[in-house]
Amino acid sequence: MIVRPDAEGIRRAAEILAADSVVAFPTETVYGLGAHAFSEKAVGEIYRLKNRPSWNPLIVHVASVTAARELAEDWPDQAEQLAAKFWPGPLTLVVRRARHLPGIGAANDTVAIRVPAHEVALRLLEESGLPLAAPSANRSESISPTTAEHVVRSLPDVPMVLDGGPCSWGIESTVLDVTGEVPRLLRPGALGLRTLRDVTGSLALPSDVADGQARSSPGMSRRHYAPRARAVLCADVRDVDRSGLAGPVGVLTYEGIPGTEILSADPREYAADLYAALHRLDDAGVATILIQEPPHTEEWLAVRDRLSRAAAPE
Ligand code: TXA
Ligand code: MG
Repeated sequence: MIVRPDAEGIRRAAEILAADSVVAFPTETVYGLGAHAFSEKAVGEIYRLKNRPSWNPLIVHVASVTAARELAEDWPDQAEQLAAKFWPGPLTLVVRRARHLPGIGAANDTVAIRVPAHEVALRLLEESGLPLAAPSANRSESISPTTAEHVVRSLPDVPMVLDGGPCSWGIESTVLDVTGEVPRLLRPGALGLRTLRDVTGSLALPSDVADGQARSSPGMSRRHYAPRARAVLCADVRDVDRSGLAGPVGVLTYEGIPGTEILSADPREYAADLYAALHRLDDAGVATILIQEPPHTEEWLAVRDRLSRAAAPE
């Protein structure tokens, strides 16, 4: 059920969370499927509804840096500086998990944490008083939701979706591991590398991340963010012989190249519309989506990562 995020809506959502069930809520990146992060029952509900493999750990959302520190065994200087600069915002930090915490929905001895920059998410965190584990609110492997309607279509059994309108970033947070000497990029995302380096100085880029094929985050399976239609990445969509393709064919490109869905040639604006465009192409019933490959530059890293996963074979 889609619910307006007024005081009554937030109160009811907090009640559901307190009862160890799940609520979908908007963040500035994508909609999350939230549950009490340290309740085995609540987190189990996330994995069940999403059909998420149990080895894929969850991001814990909290309302403040203070709340984040309480989940960490130690809080490195890099975490302090990054949090001061980018929280609330689309950056997830992986730190060593506090020893008293149960390892529910977690990886090894670490925990991924972020403070989201969305008024509804922050009000929900405050009203519930709970740290909220929240993966993107979609079936595992499919396209992430950037509107409340997307959530309901992918997860019709979610008890409640708080409607915060379309997400402003439209692509997931950047995930950074700060447990080592040099911060290591685990998932490219909304926050760009240049912006991060302004704070961290250097940044370790595993080679599979650098070439847009990241697998270093445990959840980074090869196929992900995938539409129902078969997605095909093309060096130039204009050169493709379409005779052998299953139809109808949709074309996803950016300004300057003709297609069915023409997104911005600016990487941030492109990312903001990407998932909605893939949802629209699926709704239009296309069988194949030809996708114009974006430039091989660092500012397109997160978009190229999502596109290569969307196009990965089943
Ligand atoms: O923008 C976002 O991050 C959204 C919104 C809802 O906050 N959430 C999101 O969650 O994208 P999810 O579950 O779809 O992606 C979480 C990513 C996965 O790649 C997962 O493997 C990684 O974070 N992750 C979580 N905990 C981790 C840990 N302890 N160590 C390494 N990677 C971790
Ligand atoms: Mg996801």
